[in-house]
Amino acid sequence: MAHSLKINGRTHSVDTPDNVPLLWVLRDELSMTGTKYGCGVAACGACTVQIDGEAVRSCQVAVADVWGEVTTIEGVGTPDNVATIQQAWIDHQVAQCGYCQSGQIMQAAALLAENPAPSDQDIDDAMQGNLCRCGTYPRIRAAIHDAAQRMKEA
Ligand code: FES
Ligand code: FES
Repeated sequence: MAHSLKINGRTHSVDTPDNVPLLWVLRDELSMTGTKYGCGVAACGACTVQIDGEAVRSCQVAVADVWGEVTTIEGVGTPDNVATIQQAWIDHQVAQCGYCQSGQIMQAAALLAENPAPSDQDIDDAMQGNLCRCGTYPRIRAAIHDAAQRMKEA
């Protein structure tokens, strides 16, 4: 069945069964491979995107159930136009293998949109479902604080 999806400001039409997870539509149908597959069961956060600004696990949302505009890591910034949060990630050298990091950034961006000055506890609470096998949690926390500060000053 045809589905019309608004993603990163553009409308895309895809022809897939209703129950195909958004994750696979992004990756396989639209070649947006910045969103990663980790577990497939909402346990790791690697597949996190935003729908209408809310961080969601794209492995758990069927394409037919997408309720709003999707933002993926490709919509946050580009190498030529790096977003504030991405610059903070770069400056703190957060990424190790990098596999979890697009999901981490999508979750963190949703947190900062809702809470522009999060405490350590707020960050830990918001990010607890985003796992990192490389253990970058202290740098993620520092980068989120830094991004919050930069956004405040902008
Ligand atoms: S792949 Fe979706 S939460 Fe792990
Ligand atoms: S940077 Fe390797 S899994 Fe997080």
